[in-house]
Amino acid sequence: MTDLPLYLHIAHQLQARLDNGEWPPGSRLPAVRQLAAEHGVNTLTALAAYRHLEEQQRVVARPRSGFFAALPRHVASGTTAQPGPTAAALVDVDSRMSQLIRLSASSIRQQLHMAEAHSSLYPAQELSRRMQLLLARQPELIGAYLPTADQQQLQQQIRRLAASWQLDIPLDKVLFTQGITEAISLSLRLLTRPGDVVAVETPVYFGLLQTLQTLGLKALEIPCTPDAGLSLEALEFALRHGAPVKCLVTVTNFQNPTGALMPDDNKKRLLQLARRHGLTIIEDDVFGELYFGAQHPTPLKAWDRDGEVIYCSSFTKSFAPAFRLGWLSGGRHHAALERLRESSSLVSPAILLAVLSEVLASGDYARISQRIRQQLKQQMDALADAVLDAFPRGTRVRRPQGGMLLWVEGPEGLDSQAMLETALARSISFAPGLVFSAEPRFGHCLRINCGQPWSTQLAEDIRTLGWLASEQLAGKT
Ligand SMILES: Cc1ncc(COP(=O)(O)O)c(C=O)c1O
Repeated sequence: MTDLPLYLHIAHQLQARLDNGEWPPGSRLPAVRQLAAEHGVNTLTALAAYRHLEEQQRVVARPRSGFFAALPRHVASGTTAQPGPTAAALVDVDSRMSQLIRLSASSIRQQLHMAEAHSSLYPAQELSRRMQLLLARQPELIGAYLPTADQQQLQQQIRRLAASWQLDIPLDKVLFTQGITEAISLSLRLLTRPGDVVAVETPVYFGLLQTLQTLGLKALEIPCTPDAGLSLEALEFALRHGAPVKCLVTVTNFQNPTGALMPDDNKKRLLQLARRHGLTIIEDDVFGELYFGAQHPTPLKAWDRDGEVIYCSSFTKSFAPAFRLGWLSGGRHHAALERLRESSSLVSPAILLAVLSEVLASGDYARISQRIRQQLKQQMDALADAVLDAFPRGTRVRRPQGGMLLWVEGPEGLDSQAMLETALARSISFAPGLVFSAEPRFGHCLRINCGQPWSTQLAEDIRTLGWLASEQLAGKT
């Protein structure tokens, strides 16, 4: 131990953690109060440590938001140490996930923690009738795989649907999967080996963290903002500094949890960046069909000329969650993915594929998905208004242009995990920010699902959440 002032000790420790990539450029650093508690010092000492790093241009302060790891342009050249290759961490998220799993299994009255729409938004009666008629006509669908000709017809229909999103998919490159989850996990199994590094957004969908954990992969978390999605600057910075990234998984349209829509220009720039660094991209477009604007945003894959994007889509959110019908188009990896799929779950259930095919052929899919979109948009508007009304000053939300998730950034000092405990006592749940990273980030944020039909009870529950946030900030709970 040297006799350096305490604040410099802390600053040096923070610098080492920045150097080894614990906080990627642009990500939020622990709140001053949290840093002080971590080191057992008072907040002035913690603040002095941050101020020192600010002078060194290693961190930047944002009024009322706290301190952030400096982006590359903030890093002084010359004497100050440049952040080295970003270190990625093996994912271990079991303890955080188990809390959410417990919530889903519980009898909480107002469940706002999952990314799911209420069952009344889906055409259950209509699909059940169709299925009965189909089975009466073709009972052999129970006892057989879907005939090749019928599969090809469905591939053709999906090709047409994708074309309406500006996405040109070769007919022989549509592979059905069990939801997007299987599509992504097959892609990761193909592209990586245990111990490899995968770049993901931060905050990130916790299901992806679980998949990475299961496959023994390391996550390199790249900042993602509600405005523009994945930070290309941060990704480029990591790649240029030699981060050994095997592939990137990105939710380009209405990201979970931030709701971000990556602008078209960024999608094109991301492809250029990937090409320069030989990076394969797994595009998760699970929410793309839930657009609130005029049309499905153009997927990144639409500009992929090299076949390096594995495009993954799903009908789980936009049509029938229980059918678990997903699909992928794997570019130059497609044939290998087909083989992997055979060893994973072989084929999708014939009867479900047949119902989907009928609904697409009749034009009813367009009507069904439009109704879901319209309802989600109304619910999202009502939810965002209510949150802005009820939550304490300094709370930020950006209304997503699609999807079903509202990301709420609370004022500095909000502890959404503690707030969740008090909300659960009132039978209301939400997803606390901490579950959206393998690192202890986003503790001041929460994600609220807008899939529930708006009601006076829901409005009341959002007011309660806002009040609980104020009480938590005031230290009363
Ligand atoms: C970003 C993201 N990817 C994938 C999934 C899972 O999709 P599926 O049900 O099609 O497997 C979800 C579910 O919420 C999600 O939010």
